[in-house]
Amino acid sequence: MAISFDAEHKVFNLSTPNTTYLFGLFKNKFLLHIYYGKKVTGSFDIKDVCDYGVRGFSAESVLTPGEEYSENDMPFEFPTYGNADMRIPAFHAKYEDGSTLTRFMFAGYKITKGKPKLKGLPAAYVEDDSESDTLEIELKDEETGISAFLLYTAYNTCDIITRSVRIKNHSQSNVKLDRVMSMNIDFHDNNFDFVHLHGGWAKERHIERVPLMRGFMGVDSKRGASSHVHNPFFALARKNTTESSGDVYGFGLVYSGNFVAGVDVNPEDISRVFMGINDFNFEWNLRAGEEFQAPEVIMCYSADGFTKMSQNFHRLVRKRICRGKFRDTTRPVLINNWEATYFDFNEEKIVAIAKAAKELGVELMVLDDGWFGKRNNDDCSLGDWYPDKNKLPNGISGLAKKITDMGMQFGLWFEPEMVSPDSDLYRAHPDWILATPSKPASLGRHQYILDLSRKDVRDYIVGFMTENLSAAPISYVKWDMNRSITEAGSAMLDKERQQEVSHRYMLGLYEVLETIMSRFPDVLFEGCSGGGGRFDLGMLYYYPQFWTSDDTDAVERMYIQYGTSMLYPTSTMGAHVSAVPNHQMGRTTSIDVRADVAMMGRFGYELDLAKLSAEEKEKVREQIIRYKKIEQIVHNADMYRLVSPFDSNNMAMEFVSEDKETVLVFYFTILGKPNRRPERLCLEGLENGAKYEESETGRVFDSDVLSNIGIQFVCDHDFQSRVMTFKKVK
Ligand code: GLA
Repeated sequence: MAISFDAEHKVFNLSTPNTTYLFGLFKNKFLLHIYYGKKVTGSFDIKDVCDYGVRGFSAESVLTPGEEYSENDMPFEFPTYGNADMRIPAFHAKYEDGSTLTRFMFAGYKITKGKPKLKGLPAAYVEDDSESDTLEIELKDEETGISAFLLYTAYNTCDIITRSVRIKNHSQSNVKLDRVMSMNIDFHDNNFDFVHLHGGWAKERHIERVPLMRGFMGVDSKRGASSHVHNPFFALARKNTTESSGDVYGFGLVYSGNFVAGVDVNPEDISRVFMGINDFNFEWNLRAGEEFQAPEVIMCYSADGFTKMSQNFHRLVRKRICRGKFRDTTRPVLINNWEATYFDFNEEKIVAIAKAAKELGVELMVLDDGWFGKRNNDDCSLGDWYPDKNKLPNGISGLAKKITDMGMQFGLWFEPEMVSPDSDLYRAHPDWILATPSKPASLGRHQYILDLSRKDVRDYIVGFMTENLSAAPISYVKWDMNRSITEAGSAMLDKERQQEVSHRYMLGLYEVLETIMSRFPDVLFEGCSGGGGRFDLGMLYYYPQFWTSDDTDAVERMYIQYGTSMLYPTSTMGAHVSAVPNHQMGRTTSIDVRADVAMMGRFGYELDLAKLSAEEKEKVREQIIRYKKIEQIVHNADMYRLVSPFDSNNMAMEFVSEDKETVLVFYFTILGKPNRRPERLCLEGLENGAKYEESETGRVFDSDVLSNIGIQFVCDHDFQSRVMTFKKVK
């Protein structure tokens, strides 16, 4: 049993294989957080572990009149604005009488096997009820008639606990929800660093680690998408935590829109940690009888550093967030024409690119932007999803047939959520865009955003996608989204619902994706948003892979993919070999380095292979064969981040298959140094006492030698790579 309630001591115990999460009932009313960390099996009384004393400036509790508590220091499991706790609450609402006070009291609980779905939202899942237990706690405010149902699932199969919250309005009046966090934990102390993933276009998910300050700090998105700027992920790590040792708590939000995640440290050094939909410009009208479901947070505690945390996340994302046929199968090596041609192509050119690629072993030809309307640049035609006959005289079906006749699969780019002002769609439906009624909307990349909170717009998207995917043998779709959402407003909604639009947009998008993906289960979908601007757990529930960044430079990708791996497995990261000098950086790296970096992701090419030298073509042929051999290992193995490019001039990743039979080591030098002695690299995760044979040289090493003394790498040139394979000796 992963979840139990100790009725005598009034403690809820959630346990995963190596971790325990405890909270308890104090005075039968307050839900107080007790502990999250290494597994604990002993019993205790909540009075012995929860501080509920009186300090200066304490108030009498409204819920237990006559009794004084320092509510400002109590570790609430789901704090509200409505008592003497003046920290940032997890819940804030406005009632019809003008009051904004909510006083939740414990009202009951139930424990069930498995894990329920969240209405309208992506979430981690189970395939068998034995994989997890779920606890639902009801907190109720009798005065306002509002209940909060806190949902916790503890997995038996990995060290993951999920949390989410559902709010129900039992009253006869309308309630306005201002802030509903999905998760809140009041940690006992503040001796942590805050680790998060920040970035921008072409430089997504770089790692930053800063000490907690007293007061409030955090990250968020107000851009309508999870964004390039901050990822809906953070970790709290002890000062001495490294990749392979020390305590760390990781949090990831299964949501793709505006989010907030932060920490509020009070004068007693209690760290209040929270994550959820951003309350900035958010308000939700909850009518009598209605419910509001907040998205899910995935939590992982690791006593053994960041790598263990990431491995737990990876396992969950690979097998219990990603879905569909491609979750478990190999995926085709693709070629995408974007960096090869941009908008300047025709059928002949695409067929030629495909042919050259096919000869070298590429399996899927993806036609990117520019195939529809009259789109010869990015200032028109989004919304007009019919082929440009000037470029493609035989349409998409004619081109797709030529490609599939060659024995390749065919894939196509769409940006379904957008519309260009210069498009037939916009001329017919100018009111279909997101805009604050009667105010002009900003353009981004010369385009507007369709209002997915509207059913007619959603039906239109499902309609044209269904038509296009049914009319030709399309086995892959790149679903792009190339601007931030600004001035989110809807012509369809009343004025008091305008601040619901950003969340309604996400619910609408999730509904559209669910419909299309269940209609076309054999199509591989790859998400994209100007590269990795919506790379989050919410999107991975629909697309099993995401274009990691528009920056295809091998060196920049080392940083981006390394940072991305904090939460996301390599199986989700689209990574391509592109031309040199690189189009984003102007940097020239060898085709070996470019391929070795891309092989730590969903591998493909994004250049005209016909333009390569005979020697490079031979290398491409060999790379594809090599990738096909290692694909299943890289994407299902335990990943170890051995050397960080953020802290050194090198980067190394190791992949150890679950049975510890095969080990892959990727080692990169960024800038070489002259006359330099070799670097040593110690491996991790090997089987104790086993021997491993290095495939290229046939040399056999003891695992303790590889783990403690290590292997040597020469780093005297810029942009070098080396990939080594070790097999366990039988
Ligand atoms: C975005 C994507 C690119 C490409 C272009 C096409 O920037 O990230 O990969 O598809 O759009 O316009």
